[in-house]
Amino acid sequence: MYTLIDYSLDNELALIGLSRAPVNALGHALRLELQAAFRQASADPAIKAIVVYGHNLPFCAGADIAEFGGADFTATPGLPDLLIELAASAKPMVAAVGGLALGGGLELAMACGYRIAEPKARLGLPEITLGLIPGAGGTQRLPRLIGAEAALEAILSGQPLNAARALELGLVDRIASSAAELLGEACAFARELLQAGAPAQPACPYAAPGAALPENFFTDYTARKSGQWKGQAAPHLALEAVRIACEQPLEVGLQRESELFAEAMDSPQSKALRHLFFAEREAGKVPGIDASLPLRPIRKVAVIGAGTMGGGIAMNFANIGIPVVLLEQKREALDRGLAHIRKNYEISAKRGKLSQEQLEQRMALLFGTLEYADLADADLVIEAVFESMEVKRQVFATLDEVCKPGAILASNTSTLDVDQIAACTRRPQDVIGLHFFSPANVMRLLEVVRGKATAPDVLATALKLGKQIGKLPVVSGVCYGFIGNRMLEPYAREAHRLLLEGATPAQIDRVLTDLGLNMGVLSMYDLVGIDVGYLIRTPLRAMLAQDPSYCRLADELYALGRYGQKSGRGMYIYEGRERHDDPEVLAMAERLAAELGIQRRVISDQEIHDRCLFMLINEGIQILDEGIALRAGDIDLVWTCGYGFPTWLGGPLHYAEHLGLERVLNGIRQYREQLGAYGELWLQPAPLLERLVAAGKTRISKD
Ligand code: 3HC
Ligand code: NAI
Repeated sequence: MYTLIDYSLDNELALIGLSRAPVNALGHALRLELQAAFRQASADPAIKAIVVYGHNLPFCAGADIAEFGGADFTATPGLPDLLIELAASAKPMVAAVGGLALGGGLELAMACGYRIAEPKARLGLPEITLGLIPGAGGTQRLPRLIGAEAALEAILSGQPLNAARALELGLVDRIASSAAELLGEACAFARELLQAGAPAQPACPYAAPGAALPENFFTDYTARKSGQWKGQAAPHLALEAVRIACEQPLEVGLQRESELFAEAMDSPQSKALRHLFFAEREAGKVPGIDASLPLRPIRKVAVIGAGTMGGGIAMNFANIGIPVVLLEQKREALDRGLAHIRKNYEISAKRGKLSQEQLEQRMALLFGTLEYADLADADLVIEAVFESMEVKRQVFATLDEVCKPGAILASNTSTLDVDQIAACTRRPQDVIGLHFFSPANVMRLLEVVRGKATAPDVLATALKLGKQIGKLPVVSGVCYGFIGNRMLEPYAREAHRLLLEGATPAQIDRVLTDLGLNMGVLSMYDLVGIDVGYLIRTPLRAMLAQDPSYCRLADELYALGRYGQKSGRGMYIYEGRERHDDPEVLAMAERLAAELGIQRRVISDQEIHDRCLFMLINEGIQILDEGIALRAGDIDLVWTCGYGFPTWLGGPLHYAEHLGLERVLNGIRQYREQLGAYGELWLQPAPLLERLVAAGKTRISKD
C-alpha cells in the first residue's frame, strides 16, 4: 500500500520507515504517505507508540528543494501542517535519527516528542544556506528545546550539530550505541516511555525561551551581527521568527514563521542560492563520463614544488591519510616548505581542530625529497612549480621518464596550456590540469582541466578524488586562465582602465564590495601580489600591445617594486592589513591619463558596476559558447567558490539573468560606443549574448 514508507509493527509499536532514496526529501508523495502511515498507527488501538526512522537511508534531508516554486510544494499536506498534526499525536513518537536530520528533517524529528540519534548523526537547520528560514516549525520548536541563543546560532550558521553536541544541548534525548543498533534502541526507548507513562509531548525545557534573555537581546544581537550578513535578507527574517518564538505562543509563532518563510522563498536571493545548490550537484555530472567507469587507484601522491601552492596541495592528501612525496630543487626550499606545512597544522592544533597526535600522523605522511626517483611509485603527481612553460616542460619530460605507466600527471598551472604541457610527454592521455586556489588547503574550488587527450578515466578519477579531499571540482576546457582566471582578466582590465579615466582604487573596490564581493579587484591584486598579476599578463603581451593603457598603472607599480600588501605599498598604502588611499597612486593615474590622452572625468558608481560586471559576465557567456565551461552553473560555482562573488547573487551568470540579458547587452554596446577606440577593442559583446537577446531568452544556456 505504501511505496515510500516501510510500515511495520513490533508488538505495541508502529515503525514508520521513510524510504525515499537517496535522502528522504519530504516531497509531496512522501508527505502524503507519512500522513497516511501516521493516521494508520494513530487509529490502531493495538499501537501504543510510534517510531519514525530512515529505512536503510539517512533519516531525512528536509523539504524537497526540487519542488520549491512548484505546485507540489504547497500541495496538501504541506510540511508545516503535517508536522502540526504529528506534534499533536496522542501516542508518544520517537524519531530515530540515522545519518542526518536537516531542515524539514530536523523539524520532523522535533515534531516527535522524543529523539534518539546514532553517534555519527548530524542535525541542523541549513535553510539559511538556501536563503530561507526553517519553515515547518524549526524557528519555534528549536528555541523551546535548546534555548533562544543556541537556536539562533544553529539557525543563522546553518551548520549541523554532531550527536554529542545535540545531546548536550537537549536536542536529542539519547545517543544509540551505533548506527546498527539505532532502530532497536529507539524501540527500547519507546517501550521505556510507555512503561513510565511518559506524555506524548514532554514539556519543553525552554517553554518560554524569551524569559532567560537579557533586555534588548534582539536589538543588540542585530547590531553585533548584521555586519556579517552584508546584503542578505534571510538572517533578518530568521531573527524575527526567533524573536516571535520568544514572545508569542507556539500557534502564533508558527503562523508568523510561515509568512516569513514565504517571503524568503519568493526572494531573488533564495532563488540564487537554490540555483547554486543544484549547480553544485550538476557539476559532478560530465557528459561522456559514466559513473560506472573503473577509476585509477590513488594510494600515493607526489607534489612537485613546495612553495605557496605545493605545500597546501600536499596537505589535502595527508589530511585524508594518503602519503605524499614532496619534491623540491633545493634542500632549503624543501625544508622551508615542510616547515610551513607544520606551521599550518600547528595553527589548526592551537584552534583545537587537530590533536597533537593527528598533527604528527599527518606530518609523518609527508616525505620530502630532491630525487625524481622517489616519484616512481606515485599514482598521481601534481606539479606546482613556477608559472613558466619552459620549467613545466622540463618537469613533465622528466616525469614521463620516471613515473610508472598509468600514473596521472597533473599541473596546477593557473593560465598555461595544458595540451602543450601534455605534449611534452608520451602519454598525453594521462595528463590533466588540477587548478587549486590559494590557500590550497582551505579553498574549496578545484578547476579540473580536461586536455584534448585526457582519458575519461583520468578525468573521472580526478573528480572523485577532488570530492574525497573536500573540494568542489568543476570541469574546464583548455584556454588561457581556464574559467576563473580568464573571466578575471576583462573584469580586472575594466577596473584598471577606470583608474585612468578618473575613478579611485577605493571607489572601485567599494562598488564591488557593496555588491557583496569579498574583496574589490584592486585590493585582491594587492593581496595576491602586483608582481603575480604582472607575470600572469606576460603571455598576453603581444595582444596587449594594441592598447598602451592596458593595466598600465599596475605595470608601473610593478616597476617601482610596489607589489601590494607584501611590500606595504601597491594600489594602496598598508599599515599591517589596514589600507589607505595613496596620493602618489592618484597622481600617477593623472599623469598616465595625460600621457595616454585619456580624458579624466567623474566616474559614477553605476559605470564601475556596469563595466566591471558586464565584461565579467560577457566573458563567462563567451566561455560557455566555446565549450570551455559545460554549463552556466559551472561558471557561477567557479566565481562564488573561488573568487568571492556573493552566493546570494548566484554567481555572475545568474546575476546577469536577474539584471536582464538585454540590459547587459545594451550596457556593453553603450560603453563600447562611448569609449571610442578602447571600447572598439575590448567591449565586444559575446555572440551568444547577442543571440540569446535576439531570441528573447531570459536564461543563459548554450544554444
Ligand atoms: N531536496 C531535494 N533533493 C535533495 C535534497 C533535498 N532537500 N537533499 C539532497 N538532495 C538530492 C541532491 O540534489 C542529489 O540529487 P542528484 O543525485 O540527483 O544530484 C542527491 O540528493 C544526493 O545529494 P548530494 O549529492 O548532495 O549528496 P551528499 O551525500 O553529498 O549530501 C546532503 C547529502 C548533506 C543531504 C546534501 O545533499 C544537502 O545538504 N542537502 C540539502 C539539505 C537542506 O538544505 N535541507 C533543507 C531543505 S529546506 C527545508 O527543509 C525547508 C523547511 O524548513 C520547510
Ligand atoms: P612558488 O614560487 O611559491 O612555488 C614554486 C616552487 O616550485 C618553489 O618552491 C620552487 O623552488 C619550486 N620549483 C621551481 N622549479 C622547480 C623544479 N624544476 N623542480 C622542483 N621544484 C621547483 O609558486 P606558487 O605560487 O606555489 O605557484 C606554483 C604554481 O601554482 C604556478 O603554476 C602558479 O601559477 C600556480 N598557482 C598559483 C596560485 C597562487 O595563488 N600562488 C593559485 C593557483 C595556481
